[in-house]
Amino acid sequence: MKVTVVGAGAVGATCADNIARKQLCDELILVDIKEGVAEGKAMDLMQTAQIEGFDTKIIGSTNDYAKTAGSTVAVITSGIPRKPGMTREELIGINAGIVKTVTQNILQHSPDCIIIVISNPMDTMTYLALKSSGLPKNRIIGMGGILDSARFRYYLSQAIGCSANDLQATVVGGHGDTTMIPLTRLATYCGTPAANYLSEEALKKVAADTMVGGATLTGLLGTSAWYAPGAAGAALVEAIVRDEKKLMPCCVSLEGEYGQSDICIGVPVIIGKNGWEKIVDYKLTEEEQAAFNKSADAVRNMNSVLSTLDV
Ligand code: 2OP
Repeated sequence: MKVTVVGAGAVGATCADNIARKQLCDELILVDIKEGVAEGKAMDLMQTAQIEGFDTKIIGSTNDYAKTAGSTVAVITSGIPRKPGMTREELIGINAGIVKTVTQNILQHSPDCIIIVISNPMDTMTYLALKSSGLPKNRIIGMGGILDSARFRYYLSQAIGCSANDLQATVVGGHGDTTMIPLTRLATYCGTPAANYLSEEALKKVAADTMVGGATLTGLLGTSAWYAPGAAGAALVEAIVRDEKKLMPCCVSLEGEYGQSDICIGVPVIIGKNGWEKIVDYKLTEEEQAAFNKSADAVRNMNSVLSTLDV
């Protein structure tokens, strides 16, 4: 089993770190365009092998995709991260060209692999990877909803004063500060509605904090977050390589599901060895569906920028 992570920045390296610690593959290829960075991070990570007790072999490569040949899964984290005050959408001009080239390079050597997109603006980058590769839709998955849902559970756990592990809570829609939809109605604490423990106002604050969760961290860190995004990417790799059939909110291509078509956007899906295998219908209320439609409009608007770019 071989897994590739493209982009050895903070998110890519953290994702690789989690993949290795969980021993999700025998060989992990870390690729970066900057001379020596992937090799350096791979060597640094390999020097944790004895401490952490893993046997995954991590190999760094400066843009040599031949080394990635035969990968089962490839994770794309390449591109520039956002700076304080920037939205994810502002990255499209630079990241679109990068994501398209990386997708082509991966598929040239691993035509059967499943591609996970983390680069921002993630929904549009997933759509671009799908359209430019011509891959079957189940093999292109955008990672945003797992991260946003983990942030939702974090804020809920802080508000309720409970363990995040005792919560179920899902974010659907776009992976943007104004497009994501934390489904507060469906949030539960050990099977009981979260609304039993929090006022409507408190729940609204949890949802609002979740939506700007990434921006809050960017403001604190001066750049985009990496621990949770990297761990969420690795959780998605795990569900694929272990064929877990786990339900995870991911950005996938819709063909009429949730009332939308010709778009990649976050919905609950079953993840297994074939990529995303099934979309689960949460039966949204009218109000939730209206929010989902609005989110889809914003994502579609962003997708339309792709035709104005030279990619
Ligand atoms: C975030 O929300 C990187 O988009 C990612 O932190």
